[in-house]
Amino acid sequence: MSEPGNVTVRRATMTDIPAITRIYNQGIVDRLATLETDERSESERAAWLTARDERHPVLAAERNGAVVGWGSLNIFNPRPAYRFVADFSVYVAREARGSGVGGALLVALIAEARRLEFHKLALAAFLHNAAGMRLYRKFGFRLVGVYREQGILDGRWVDVAIMERLLEPPA
Ligand SMILES: CC(C)(COP(=O)(O)OP(=O)(O)OC[C@H]1O[C@@H](n2cnc3c(N)ncnc32)[C@H](O)[C@@H]1OP(=O)(O)O)[C@@H](O)C(=O)NCCC(=O)NCCS
Repeated sequence: MSEPGNVTVRRATMTDIPAITRIYNQGIVDRLATLETDERSESERAAWLTARDERHPVLAAERNGAVVGWGSLNIFNPRPAYRFVADFSVYVAREARGSGVGGALLVALIAEARRLEFHKLALAAFLHNAAGMRLYRKFGFRLVGVYREQGILDGRWVDVAIMERLLEPPA
């Protein structure tokens, strides 16, 4: 689908489920990415992948034959008026972070969102997630605002940043 550097990003399939589950659980355990706290099983992730519709794909990032990250376009809000806005997720395996995989996934997610005729991408992220903040800024996301003390992780309040990027047509 897309190949910045030596990372290939393509649609995820059922054979990617073990890697996707491992990488998602790392993100949950690291407490940098999500207010989710329950680790997932492969069967739960398989059901999640099966339930995706055509407008909300899951992408897998591969390097040297191994899945090192995944991303997805998610339903922002099920009301029809929101159908041109997508939320998204991006998760990179611990051992592959900081080496361009997140950037490759963002390139592919933005291209997919445009192809699927979304008008906007939106996301929620932790302000203290330095890699995430840097990645989103680099790809033109603007800070809409910050929910103060939006969740509790391990007994501590967490602030959540809301960001967005309009998907102007490519030049
Ligand atoms: C956040 C995440 C997706 C970024 O992906 P990545 O592959 O590590 O990032 P990249 O290597 O593509 O780098 C993207 C930018 O962030 C910067 N960056 C990477 N790691 C960083 C860190 N730990 N601190 C600060 N900046 C960092 C890079 O330098 C790069 O910016 P630059 O091109 O201006 O130098 C990844 O680290 C990750 O999956 N983390 C755990 C899960 C998570 O936080 N997901 C996001 C939820 S909102």
